[in-house]
Amino acid sequence: MKSLLILFLSAIISCLHAQQFSLPELSHPYDAYGVIDSKTMEIHHSKHHQGYVNKLNKAVKAESLEKKSLIDLMLYASYRSKAVRNNSGGHYNHTLFWELLNPSKVKSTDEQVLKTIKSKLYIEIVNEFGSLDNLKTTLNKAAATRFGSGWAWLVVTPQKKLAVTSSPNQDNPIMDVSEVRGIPILGIDVWEHAYYLKYQNKRGDYLGAIWSILDWSVVAKKYNMAIKDPLLLTIEKEHWPSLMEFHKVLAQTFHPAEKNDFKPLRTRSSELFAKAILLKSSVVPSPLMSPEILGALSRLEKQCGALDKSVRKNAKNKVILKKIIAVHDIFHEIQGLCHD
Ligand SMILES: [Fe+2]
Repeated sequence: MKSLLILFLSAIISCLHAQQFSLPELSHPYDAYGVIDSKTMEIHHSKHHQGYVNKLNKAVKAESLEKKSLIDLMLYASYRSKAVRNNSGGHYNHTLFWELLNPSKVKSTDEQVLKTIKSKLYIEIVNEFGSLDNLKTTLNKAAATRFGSGWAWLVVTPQKKLAVTSSPNQDNPIMDVSEVRGIPILGIDVWEHAYYLKYQNKRGDYLGAIWSILDWSVVAKKYNMAIKDPLLLTIEKEHWPSLMEFHKVLAQTFHPAEKNDFKPLRTRSSELFAKAILLKSSVVPSPLMSPEILGALSRLEKQCGALDKSVRKNAKNKVILKKIIAVHDIFHEIQGLCHD
């Protein structure tokens, strides 16, 4: 009886912990969006977005990532499977997109809307792009020139500046794979599934029409939230491309060596050393700058140099294993300092 009770309780606890993402409802019926036809909206929302949600739930369950938040899944996209990367982005990006589309938005000009809202967004747009029209042109250009499927973004960067960028597939600027990092406050879906039935292959016509239902009051709210969001600091700390590049080569040499396969390490020790030199001379993200980090980077470079020297002298496997383990330990010390 007691064991049955324990089983029952653990089943309840595991259900409470189980992450289940779900499809958000649209604010309007499918046929209310005007410049985007009803069928496109229906398929886009109920089939494509639902598909991302279903596949994301399946992937997080299969990979035991149920306790991770959607932000966590995306932040470390380079470490995730393709299924988690594509579908976490697919879910997040579309959820943002639906929020921005409002066919019954206030019928004054976008500029008037922004000026009447108590938000710094309009001032920042003028500072950064000269005018709202210039910003729209810049976003349209980013969207039109995105090769294949993807998204165009207006983001708040860790320095709390506005920036326009684009990303392929379902990636987004929260992800560590993105060149420009930040919190998206406006995203334009440029997958053909977003416009194909009405606009066929004419992405430019779709991009010209989308502004009539894009609600800048929502963008302003997102901006106000983004500039206060602690996620900006996390992104700034995590945005260290040289560390990622070093980690990639380390993972590809250390893990085989652990399993007694020394070929990758013996052929790539000088590459690892070069990545350590580049890492030490790279710009350390400002929130991470400390004597401890700088000291660890110096030790990492020195240890990689010693490892490379041993490999070139054709030292025994157990000698180079000991040295790569020391490299690995210093790397994790740096990672630990990044997450403090
Ligand atoms: Fe889409």
